Amino acid sequence: MAATILADDDDDDINPFTSIMLLAPTCQPPKPESEEDHQNQSPLSSSKAGITSQQLLDQNNYYLHSVNSHLLIRQLPSQGLSFQLWPAATTLVTLLDTHSSQSTIPNPLSTLFKAQEDRPLNILELGSGTGLVGIAAAALLSANVTVTDLPHVLCNLHFNVEANSKLLQVNQGAKVNIAGLSWGVDEDMKAVGKEYDLILGSDVVYHDHLYKPLIKTLRFFLLGNDDGSKKKRVAFVMAHLKRWKKESAFFKMARKLFDVDIIHSDPPSHGARVGVVVYRMVGKCFLSVNSVPS
Ligand SMILES: C[S@@+](CC[C@H](N)C(=O)[O-])C[C@H]1O[C@@H](n2cnc3c(N)ncnc32)[C@H](O)[C@@H]1O
Repeated sequence: MAATILADDDDDDINPFTSIMLLAPTCQPPKPESEEDHQNQSPLSSSKAGITSQQLLDQNNYYLHSVNSHLLIRQLPSQGLSFQLWPAATTLVTLLDTHSSQSTIPNPLSTLFKAQEDRPLNILELGSGTGLVGIAAAALLSANVTVTDLPHVLCNLHFNVEANSKLLQVNQGAKVNIAGLSWGVDEDMKAVGKEYDLILGSDVVYHDHLYKPLIKTLRFFLLGNDDGSKKKRVAFVMAHLKRWKKESAFFKMARKLFDVDIIHSDPPSHGARVGVVVYRMVGKCFLSVNSVPS
């Protein structure tokens, strides 16, 4: 559980760390996101975030220790919050990277990545934004990853997947698919299918009008099959930086449906009051989609 309760609507922390763009776009940049998103997307100044301009540069060229390779991630900050790298993504990638390094330090993710004997892991990422987490997961776990987001974000996701295609090719089994998935939209959820071993998300709990659609999406992917039969237990691993007290409403809804555990907590970064927390959510036993109230 995140330790510190923040004031309601306290948006001190609701900004990604970076605000620069290094690579030129190859596709038509999307229209800027809505007013509401822009209210919360003025980037942190580097002094406030306690990071240097070199660290900002490194955000676009993300080093993965365990495979000794760089990921290139394009951000388009002027287009809105979906086009920027958020702090929880970095935490999740670091955990994936240390898991893959086979270090002797116990990693909370390791039990989730039981090697499949005959096929790569199938992973779905929700609200992928720039795609850093999903692309890194594919490269680090040699996994088949589907990165998803709202339709207007997909062009930049395509760009970033393409920018890392060589790295993905050298990791046998690594593949990144891109799909539009608006939370709670039945056709979108059905279109990406249910056959995933793991669901990932970073910084996907922020605006309160998105809590219910996100919960509906998690019910779809984590709970029983539509016919009421039980499916294998699939975990949602969510890295989250708490910003608002009202987020407890999301966790209250989630705890009704899922067993929610904290599997990792970062200490607060410089100048912040709380750090990124990584949650694991799995469907409560004996619940099926049909038995859960909307
Ligand atoms: C705060 S950003 C985090 C992006 C990325 N996961 C990261 O950590 O850098 C939230 C992401 O959720 C996506 N999102 C917001 N509402 C959504 C919805 N209704 N359906 C699907 N994705 C949504 C946004 O487009 C955005 O990419």
